Amino acid sequence: MFRWARLWIICLNILGYNAFADDYSSALNELGRTATAAELSAWDIDVRPDFVGLPSGSGSVEEGEALWFDQCANCHGDFGDSNEVFSPIVLGNITEDDIQTGRVAALTDPSVVRTTFMKVATLSTIWDYINRAMPWNAPKSLAVDEVYSLVAYLLNLAYIVDEDFVLSDKNMEDVQALMPNRNGMTEDHGLWSVAGVPDVVGSACITNCSVNTAITSFLPDYAMNAHGNLKDQMRDYGPLPGMQTAPAPQLPVSQLQQSGSLDQRPADLLSASGCKACHQMNKALIGPAFTAIRARYAGADASDYLAEKIKQGGQGVWGSVPMPAMAQLDDTVVAALALWLASGQ
Ligand code: HEC
Ligand code: HEC
Repeated sequence: MFRWARLWIICLNILGYNAFADDYSSALNELGRTATAAELSAWDIDVRPDFVGLPSGSGSVEEGEALWFDQCANCHGDFGDSNEVFSPIVLGNITEDDIQTGRVAALTDPSVVRTTFMKVATLSTIWDYINRAMPWNAPKSLAVDEVYSLVAYLLNLAYIVDEDFVLSDKNMEDVQALMPNRNGMTEDHGLWSVAGVPDVVGSACITNCSVNTAITSFLPDYAMNAHGNLKDQMRDYGPLPGMQTAPAPQLPVSQLQQSGSLDQRPADLLSASGCKACHQMNKALIGPAFTAIRARYAGADASDYLAEKIKQGGQGVWGSVPMPAMAQLDDTVVAALALWLASGQ
C-alpha cells in the first residue's frame, strides 16, 4: 500500500504535480486538535502500584458494607463469595500467616478455589478496577469516597483490616504492606525488565512431551459475545485469528419479517446484541432463561412492554438482580427482540 502511494507521488513529481504532495501533507497537519485538560483528566484515571494517580479521599468498612449490599451483592454475593458465574472475590480462606509472609499458602494447593484476594499482589489494582469498571452495569458511577469504602469492606472480609477501619489515600500504603499475596508477583523476568535476559530464552526443562491436540475447553455459549465480536478485535492473519463470536450483521426487523426468519434468527440477534452475557436460551443465568420469558408472556401482547424493558432495564420481576438498560441498541433490533420474546413458547 505504502509503496504504491510513494510510486504515485514520484510519478506526480515527475509530471510536475509536486504541489499536490505538499497540499496533502499540510492538510494532514490540520487534522484533529489538541486534547483539552478536561478530556485528558477524564481519560487519565489509572492508579499505579506506587499510588501515583490515587485521588485523595476516604471511606469506612461500615459505609462500604451498605454500598456493597446496595450495588454489588446481587452479582458477587453478600460476602463477595458468589461462585455462580464469577470467580469469588473473597472466601475467608486467607490466614494470619499469609498476611505475615505476603504469600498465600493455599495457592500451592490446586484443589483450593482461587479468589481475587488470594491472588492480587497490589491494592492499587483493586481500587483502580472498582473505580473504572464496577458496578458492571454502571461503570464509573461511583464517587471516590465510595470506592474507598468498598475496598475497605472487601479488605475486612478478607481479614486484612478490622471492622472499624477507615481506608484513605493516607493509609493505602500501610495496607499494601498487609496484602496477603503481596510477594506473589515477580518483576524479575524479561517481560518486566527489558534490560534483563528475556524469559523466552532458556533450555527445555522437559523432553519427549506428548503433543495432545484435543480441544479440552471452549468458550461457553452464554459468554460468546460477552465482549463483542472477537473476530473484529483481532488481525485476520497470524496463527490465532479472532473467533467469530457474533453472527453476521443484524438484520432490521422488516427484513426479518419479510424473510419469515424471525424465529430462526433470534439466537443470532441475541448474541449480537450482547444479551447472552446474562441470558441463556433454556437455563437461568444472571437473568431468566429466554424460554421462561417467552412462556410467561405468551398470548399477552407484551411486545411493547418488553421493548420498553429491554431499552430501560429494570428489576424485581424475576428477582433482585437488575437488568441493565440496553440503551445503545437500535430501535429496530429492540423491536425484533421484543416481538420474538412476546410471540409465545
Ligand atoms: C451486574 C453484575 C455485577 C455487579 C452489580 C457488580 N459486579 Fe463486579 N464483576 C462483575 C463481572 C461480570 C466481573 C468480571 C468482569 C470481567 O472479568 O470482565 C466482575 C469483577 C469484579 C472484580 C474483580 C474480580 C477479579 O478477580 O477480577 C471486583 C473487585 C468487583 N467486580 C467488584 C465489584 C463491586 C465493588 C461492585 C459494586 C460497586 C460490583 N463489583 C458490582 C459483575 C458485577
Ligand atoms: C447484565 C445482565 C443482562 C444483560 C446483558 C441482559 N439482561 Fe435481560 N435481564 C437481566 C436480569 C437480571 C433480568 C431480570 C430482571 C427482573 O427481575 O426484573 C432480565 C430480564 C429480562 C427480560 C424480562 C423482563 C420482564 O419484565 O419480565 C427480558 C425480556 C430481557 N431481560 C431481555 C434481554 C435482552 C433482549 C437482552 C439483550 C438485548 C438482555 N436482556 C440483556 C439481565 C441482563
